[in-house]
Amino acid sequence: MIPLIKPEVGEEEIEAVRAVFQTGHIAQGPTTKKFEALFAEYVGAKHASATTSCTAALHLAVCSLGIGRGDEVIVPSFTFPASANAVALQGATPVFCDIDLKTFNVDVKSAESAVTERTKAIMPIHLFGQSADMGAVARMAKKHGLRVIEDAANAMGTFYEKKHVGTLGDFGCFSFHPRKILTTGEGGMLTSEDDALASLAASLKDHGKDETGAKFVRPGFNYRMSDILAAIGIVQLKKLDATIKRRVQLAQRYSQLLEGVSGVTPPHHPAFTNHTFQSYVVLLDNGIDRDAIIKKTRERGVQTQIGTYAVHLQPAYARSAASLPNAERADKQALTLPMYGQMTDADQQLVVKTLEGILR
Ligand SMILES: Cc1ncc(COP(=O)(O)O)c(C=O)c1O
Repeated sequence: MIPLIKPEVGEEEIEAVRAVFQTGHIAQGPTTKKFEALFAEYVGAKHASATTSCTAALHLAVCSLGIGRGDEVIVPSFTFPASANAVALQGATPVFCDIDLKTFNVDVKSAESAVTERTKAIMPIHLFGQSADMGAVARMAKKHGLRVIEDAANAMGTFYEKKHVGTLGDFGCFSFHPRKILTTGEGGMLTSEDDALASLAASLKDHGKDETGAKFVRPGFNYRMSDILAAIGIVQLKKLDATIKRRVQLAQRYSQLLEGVSGVTPPHHPAFTNHTFQSYVVLLDNGIDRDAIIKKTRERGVQTQIGTYAVHLQPAYARSAASLPNAERADKQALTLPMYGQMTDADQQLVVKTLEGILR
């Protein structure tokens, strides 16, 4: 079986975890602080705060911006439900907008048409490893006085022009789930350029403590990362540039192999962003039964997967009735191909041959 992913963790990570156990400090402590500092340096953020997941980071961002009941946040529909859940669980309403089918990222015109007097923020998603059009997002946010929460779950190593994503809005939220190119098993990071917002988020992350840690000044959560996971993160961060380089090679190879395979559009990214290929996602022509393709490739030993979800169609958000044609098309026709560092040329050829054989 050619699996969808193989998390790239090994002896170095095991050694790092062993070293943490030997210190006796296994909850949040000095290793997490070190990981946060290295992460902040890598992405060029003023503040970076390690969390239990990207969902936790998104929740902290929404809470810290004071978004709640009666407020609306514009969220591109084609994403993992966690983006919208962070808004809904604060009592606010995620208002879904459409995407650009070439990039699978926010269609800023559609986002702008969703603005009302209740809109407080926009949440651009940097899907699959490429940046949303943050220039257009920033112009729109400025025009309407909106906050910007970047969902960078998929976008470690992704830049908008010269700036790393997650440093362009009020908050950036990253994921270290095993399907991400930097993994700690589970985990996340919240970045911010604003001292006051970062300090509030740090308090909310840690039971509502004040900066001295001696007083509880507000109700808070426990969204802290443990030093065990932070140790893995430090090793993964060291390997990140090599990981991305390999993924870009694999993606170029896929795109060559897919040339001339009819019915399949390979990924595209505009000049303002690089693409780390956290996922290599193609778009199948209308009329091709994507779910049948997934089933058949798996029967033939190749694990393919959907892209992600048009969240406005999920039962949890079905009350949102607007038609978002591109998100709906991506929901039905996007297909993720297997990708991992040890993949060989022969593996990639087999994936493409299998897909081509089924499509024919
Ligand atoms: C776009 C997006 N946002 C948020 C999340 C949630 O990340 P986590 O699993 O770290 O909570 C994911 C997870 O896949 C995602 O793809």
